[in-house]
Amino acid sequence: MSAYHHVSVVTRTGIVIVSMTQTADDAAPKFFQPRRLGHVNLVVADVERSMDFYMQVVGLEEAYRRPQVKAGFLSNGATHHDIGMVESGGPLGHGRPAGLNHTAFELETEVDLVDGYERAIAAGVKFERTADHDIAHSAYGADADGNEYEIYADVIYDWRAARHGVVTKPKPNWAPGLTPPHAERNYHADPEIRRVEDAVFHPLAATHAVLAVENFEAAFDDYHDVVGLGLVAGGREAAFAVFGGTCGTRSLGLFRADSGRQPGLQHVGFKVADDADLDDSIQRAAKAGVAIEGTFDHPARRGVFIRDIDDIRLQFYVDRTPGAAALHSAYIDTALFLA
Ligand SMILES: [Fe+2]
Repeated sequence: MSAYHHVSVVTRTGIVIVSMTQTADDAAPKFFQPRRLGHVNLVVADVERSMDFYMQVVGLEEAYRRPQVKAGFLSNGATHHDIGMVESGGPLGHGRPAGLNHTAFELETEVDLVDGYERAIAAGVKFERTADHDIAHSAYGADADGNEYEIYADVIYDWRAARHGVVTKPKPNWAPGLTPPHAERNYHADPEIRRVEDAVFHPLAATHAVLAVENFEAAFDDYHDVVGLGLVAGGREAAFAVFGGTCGTRSLGLFRADSGRQPGLQHVGFKVADDADLDDSIQRAAKAGVAIEGTFDHPARRGVFIRDIDDIRLQFYVDRTPGAAALHSAYIDTALFLA
């Protein structure tokens, strides 16, 4: 897909960049104000095989497993898990095809979770379920296409000690407000990032997910008004919208599922350290027989795409010169890599 094609999409739809920070539009009271994407949870065909792939190729460490429910979790330390996965044929997979299980957005504190949840319920927002994950407390909703999202707050700072290996602890029935909410910040503001030296790639974190949706405007409202993400680029009337949290990073790309673009997860984005590291990984991929599906090289961002063993597209990227104009064209050049 050429840059020219992307530019023509922009011209036709009149996309405008908003800003990299939250705008006046975003100053209205919201239910939640997420910091960032915390993790993406995937439905996979075979958890064992996918855990191997995400360790050996993607380059994440195993954080913990829940074999009783055929689920696995990986992280290099940005948070307790950057990637979660459930097996399609397992008790949490419900026979769904490989793809998105849910996106998850991290709040500052559990107080924010309880406060936002109670105000959302009072305003008529429907949540699918709530959960006590021991190290985090969560509420789950779904966008207009039925893509599930999780809004959560960490409740234990030392998640490495609290949750590792094989986890069998049952999850109690819980809803926001049922237990006294934690007021302290339990995420790691300056996390220790580990490196799986032998892996093909060496991501610092899973930073964003990109979805295509059939009900674009309604899904836009779900992520903007309910989840509370800020608009970074694109818009409700545009061909796409890019959302970010209060950390200032882009966390979610939303595209219209049209022009032959199938609805669902388009890719998960992983940030790597620098160009040299990405170059090294491209060489490692060749040696390991991992196909690079596509590359992009832009003043604002450079990256590559691969497919995981279930054909889920993954992006590894390095950010370069920041700046609204450069980032705008980077979105056009790279975020639309959706064939
Ligand atoms: Fe989750």
